[in-house]
Amino acid sequence: MALAIMCSGGDAPGMNPAIKKFVDYVYKRGERPYLIYDGLEGMIDNKIKQATHRDVVGIIHNGGTIIRSSRSKRFFDYDFRLKAYENLQMHGITALVILGGDGSFRALNQFSKDFDINFVGIPTTIDNDIYGTEYCLGVDTALNVIRDALDKIRDTASSFNRAFLVEVMGRDCGYLAIVSSMISGAEICVIPEKPFERERIEEKLKKEVAAGRNYILAIIAEGAKQTNEVYQWLQDSIGLDTRVSILGHIQRGGNPTVYDRMMAFDFTVTAVDHLLTHNDSNKVVVFQKGDFKLMEIEEVVGNRYTLPQHFLDALHLLDQS
Ligand code: F6P
Repeated sequence: MALAIMCSGGDAPGMNPAIKKFVDYVYKRGERPYLIYDGLEGMIDNKIKQATHRDVVGIIHNGGTIIRSSRSKRFFDYDFRLKAYENLQMHGITALVILGGDGSFRALNQFSKDFDINFVGIPTTIDNDIYGTEYCLGVDTALNVIRDALDKIRDTASSFNRAFLVEVMGRDCGYLAIVSSMISGAEICVIPEKPFERERIEEKLKKEVAAGRNYILAIIAEGAKQTNEVYQWLQDSIGLDTRVSILGHIQRGGNPTVYDRMMAFDFTVTAVDHLLTHNDSNKVVVFQKGDFKLMEIEEVVGNRYTLPQHFLDALHLLDQS
């Protein structure tokens, strides 16, 4: 049997360890692994080749993805999906493992409705915003990149009378922001999921600043779209000279952590095992309560990820008000 792996959407650390495990494990199971380069775009353009062990030597410690990724507009068009299917047929590929987020899973779901192809998705995005799974590949590495940046920002922050505002990624999800706030001791965290209760902490922070507090750390999720507003508030109402750092794409890079390498291992073995034993697979591997399970794609893409309550509760615990 021929199985292929591809990446789609935003890259994330952990993709390379997953690709390596895929190639090694598919060979171990006596089957043929293929690599699809450049995501869905590459599937349309036939950038597909049978993998060798040599292709994946020395990649396990690298961030990014050696087979690259893309966001494809052409894949929305049936004619391009047909072209992609014909390419897979040419190589004899009947099953796919896709590393991506829910946009990519939606695209593959449509593809498998159009044509006779099985796929299993591995949730891979630093945003940790996919329904059904407690963990998406790449999140731990991204959090460690953010932790490192915040530790450094704190060094300079504590040396001046200033407020520091750090914007983190996450698309519409506040996961990265809330966890980063919890592990950095930030005084303020703003996420899209909850209104920012500015009045609640303004009075307290003002008093503290008057009494000698010499810096404030505020973390804003990009999806909250309040970076400018919170900046002005810190400057004008709290009265601290304020600096803004938008961490940006450094959050998507870096050597995958131990945790991401281990998760890549288990996500991939689970996906391959399923594809080799089932002919019904439009599923996503999800991680729940320490276990890897398969969830129907319709359930994954038909629902919206929500932050667990204990994270929302933690927002109130960041400050003492
Ligand atoms: O989904 C991953 C992510 O890094 C988001 O956190 C961010 O909003 C987006 O991708 C950035 O996309 P791009 O790489 O296209 O700028």
